[in-house]
Amino acid sequence: MSAETITPSGADARQRGQVGAGLQPGWGVSPERQQAIGEVLGGLVPPTGRLAPAQLRGVTAGLAARRSLWADLVVRDPDVRWYLPLHRSNSCDVWLLAWERGQDTDWHDHGGSSGSFAVAEGGLVEQYRAPGGLRIARRPLSAPDAVAFGPAHVHNVAHTGDGPATSIHAYSPPLMAMTYYSTTEYGLIARGTVAVDGPEGAQGRGGAGTALAAASASAARLTPDSLPADAPSIDELLAEARSGLTRLRPEAAFAVLTDGAVLVDIRPMEQRMDEGEVPGAIIIGRNVLEWRLDPRSEARIPALARADAQIIVMCSEGYASTLAAATLRRIGLHEATDLDGGFQAWKTADLPTRPAQPPD
Ligand SMILES: [Fe+2]
Repeated sequence: MSAETITPSGADARQRGQVGAGLQPGWGVSPERQQAIGEVLGGLVPPTGRLAPAQLRGVTAGLAARRSLWADLVVRDPDVRWYLPLHRSNSCDVWLLAWERGQDTDWHDHGGSSGSFAVAEGGLVEQYRAPGGLRIARRPLSAPDAVAFGPAHVHNVAHTGDGPATSIHAYSPPLMAMTYYSTTEYGLIARGTVAVDGPEGAQGRGGAGTALAAASASAARLTPDSLPADAPSIDELLAEARSGLTRLRPEAAFAVLTDGAVLVDIRPMEQRMDEGEVPGAIIIGRNVLEWRLDPRSEARIPALARADAQIIVMCSEGYASTLAAATLRRIGLHEATDLDGGFQAWKTADLPTRPAQPPD
């Protein structure tokens, strides 16, 4: 680790200036490559649910061993630790990282996610808070070492040796936030929490003049330029969808349910398990909604897939449900609408709810 560029606390990096956004996720991984990675992960990653550290180690070690899936994607950059998202699902995300001499992550946790990383090329050294206390442990790692950790893990990973290093990281649930820590005489003390758009200390590593800053600026320019001039923003799309709907507040929806209307809950299982359910609501996943409700679809639910069906789509807060209801109208269900405020408003209105029923 080079004390002149990055201190163990990462203070220099922060004083150089922070960049809120990292590289654009998904760039550089072709659909074919994503499919190949997906096929490898197919037997290792369940579509939903939390992976145990040992399962995550299987993911990182398994991908690290398959060089053809990632070796040609690596970009070497002396200024920043370059990274690329390889895979993301509801259950985990997987990242490819490249390291040059002196680069480190700063001390951080993983916002409650479990994780693993495998050294695919070169060497890294991990310092981590030993279970139960003040002591800092240290372990040098070289390819093909892979380590895994639970949600309480706090560590600082640094590049060692002369040559470049490459590593593959996986987190479950997908990384959402990280808290950074300072080393003090009292041990590690939390300094601040940031939302994450990249793995392993990507935030704050792109000071002015670095390649990361340039890439971020480039991404900011590219995004609007690459869109067709008449493409609506999501806010405009939502407003347009709502202009064609008579949305129902929870009390009004409750009233028409007794008149034959059907409440269709499109929230994913994790959200239902967390938030609760409405008794009697029909659960149809958003990804199959149109196929279940189009009267012309072989996969339709006959009792519901009717042009005059009074479908009230419900999500958590009443945004995704609007777009779904508008699509149902487009395919001919002219009575379809959505629940204004979603499940949250239903619950606030003291209408009937119950704990979600786990699948059999
Ligand atoms: Fe980490």
